[in-house]
Amino acid sequence: MIRCDTNNLIFALHTVHTSYIMGVDAKGRLLHMYYGPLYESDPLAPPAPVYDPGTLPDRLPQEWPCPGLGDNHAPFFQPEFASGVVAADLRFAAAETVPGKYTLPGLPAFRTTGAPGAETLRITLKDAAGLTVTLLYGVLPGSDMITRAAVVENSGDAPLVLRGVPTAVLDFPQESFPALDLITFDGAWGAEFTPCRAPLRPGVQGVGSVGGIPTHAHDPFVVLCDPGATETAGACWGAALVYSGNYRIQAERTPLGARLSLGIEPFRFAWTLKPGERFTTPEAAFVYSADGLAAMSHRFHRAIRRHLLPARWADLTAPRPVLLNSWEACYFDFDEAKLLRLAAAAKTAGCDLFVLDDGWFKGRDSDTTSLGDWVADTRKLPGGVAGLCQKINSLGLAFGIWVEPEAVSPDSDLYRAHPDWALHIPGRETLAIRHQYTLDFSRAEVRENIWRQLTDLLDSCPVRYLKWDMNRTLANVYSAALPAARQGEVYHRYVLGVYDLQQKLTDRYPDLLLENCSSGGARFDCGMLFYGPQIWLSDKTDALDRLMIQYGASFCYPPCVMGAHFSTVPNHATGRTASVEARMAAALSGTFGFELDLTAYTAAELEALRPFVQFYRDHGALLRTGNVYRLLPPDGAGAAWAIAAADGSEAVVFAAGRVLNGRRLPLPFAQPGSRYAVCAAYTGGARPGAWQPEPAAGARLRVQGLHLPAVPGDMPGYIAWLKETDAE
Ligand code: GLA
Repeated sequence: MIRCDTNNLIFALHTVHTSYIMGVDAKGRLLHMYYGPLYESDPLAPPAPVYDPGTLPDRLPQEWPCPGLGDNHAPFFQPEFASGVVAADLRFAAAETVPGKYTLPGLPAFRTTGAPGAETLRITLKDAAGLTVTLLYGVLPGSDMITRAAVVENSGDAPLVLRGVPTAVLDFPQESFPALDLITFDGAWGAEFTPCRAPLRPGVQGVGSVGGIPTHAHDPFVVLCDPGATETAGACWGAALVYSGNYRIQAERTPLGARLSLGIEPFRFAWTLKPGERFTTPEAAFVYSADGLAAMSHRFHRAIRRHLLPARWADLTAPRPVLLNSWEACYFDFDEAKLLRLAAAAKTAGCDLFVLDDGWFKGRDSDTTSLGDWVADTRKLPGGVAGLCQKINSLGLAFGIWVEPEAVSPDSDLYRAHPDWALHIPGRETLAIRHQYTLDFSRAEVRENIWRQLTDLLDSCPVRYLKWDMNRTLANVYSAALPAARQGEVYHRYVLGVYDLQQKLTDRYPDLLLENCSSGGARFDCGMLFYGPQIWLSDKTDALDRLMIQYGASFCYPPCVMGAHFSTVPNHATGRTASVEARMAAALSGTFGFELDLTAYTAAELEALRPFVQFYRDHGALLRTGNVYRLLPPDGAGAAWAIAAADGSEAVVFAAGRVLNGRRLPLPFAQPGSRYAVCAAYTGGARPGAWQPEPAAGARLRVQGLHLPAVPGDMPGYIAWLKETDAE
């Protein structure tokens, strides 16, 4: 609910458990006053300090800090007027509440869908020099989420250049929060999402990207929290940028307390606004939890599931296909007969869908050629994609395929015909990464060509799933189609181009399951989830490493969006061997699929996979909609976690590695007054479905804990299904 006191200019955004309160000072500056547990008062008043009108701007918690006029913290907003002035003096002009949550033209944003009571607050700030900034605040009450974005308008009569524009700035006044920790999620290829937690220091700290995509190095999601915050206690603020390009999220201790800023990275950003033109920022989403990190994650997960994923996929109780992806089974080495043998084995294991990964198009026998030429290689597929699809369908499997639409190989017909369509700086060597260049997606005619090729492919046969990959960062970023003064727009226009094509794709093929990917998780963000309901999380399919990657990703993202596949042992990347149950535990905690050469399996081995597939069919709705509990964080040897219904009536508990040592695992979601039936499967023990239910009291599970068996070996696995049977 949004409450406005238009006389005293106080604005309060209330969700079920939280409040975000702002006020306007005597000079018309919009001040942040409070973001914390629900705070309702009559008359409307902030619990935070009232600022003396004489307070220096440097000590004011401004919702939209203006550079050049006394706020000396790292400036994000940099409007350069035609006069050369880089300063803004924005004062409150108007406020308006609108039912439903705002949308952003051409940009992903959390949706109103499924959010009763969603509202928007629009606050307009004006600078007499000819600048208007409209701050958009979205309230999703049931998910305890506040979103922000801004529209910057040139309301003057000469062009101006935005050289930096934040999406949101959030101050944390010192009086309430004497110290904070900053948690970021960092890594590298195959090691995405490692949580890094450290006390927030004076001076700017943060994460970001200048690689054109978020990259493996950092995810555009951070947490600020009480230094003592744990999974179950302490104040936490989670902040995600709904954006898939260059970004900056920075935090610093300030004389006031702390400041968090999120937005497009200012490096190589310069956006010209002619009089009357507007620039819309990407969105940022915030969640506050007074009860630790688990509750913060649950709120993010709920909001992503309900309000971010494409509406077609928002009903997570509807079955999602169990797929087999050909990549780790074949890489580039296959023909149609081999694919059909693989598909037949996938069918025997219980799969619904077969995905043909890289290597299917003209001349593509390695990663050195052919990107951009999206027609089948008839040496491998004599009947083309349609011929293969028809044969896959006749095995009783749906068909999916891999593409990398933004990429072009120097050795391709597309590049030979249009060398200027690749991002390149005239006169400089163009950097190839994985032997490929990047198409200039800021250009409509380039997107149009790819669109035509994609629609030809998707119209040729019933393709039910599309994996959209992007295997490099951007470099040599310069567009042959833009004048010198507009080159600072290319990075952002590129992202808008990707969004444009994905939007068109999902509009034209509403039933197509789109899975994004970027060498694993290099573009794993809320922006991409607006178009495709799942993203391949990491190329690392080793179960032990995957526990850490999925653990880190779970702070923001729900399991139902994390691409996760059961793969072979020894693992291709690490050489390690993990048990079937440990690999299944990891894959079942994501979108669940297979990625291995099942033709090497005996009939009995294939049969042994079926109970796990059946488990996913039986409990997939719970796994996709439940709350994640990070019970034993990964320590390099194992981990334990659970996915539980919100009311605690049902759960799946997973454990893998050396944590299976006879210990007891307290389950915080178990209801003390209830009794549960516990059905456990583990390495060396029963399989799912062939298990014997054991009764257990909720109070005991909650306090003493669930008994985990002692299982020898480095990577045993454990999967238990718990169901409330009756009250004690
Ligand atoms: C990337 C993806 C993989 C696979 C290969 C194909 O690395 O992350 O899953 O699709 O490309 O080249």
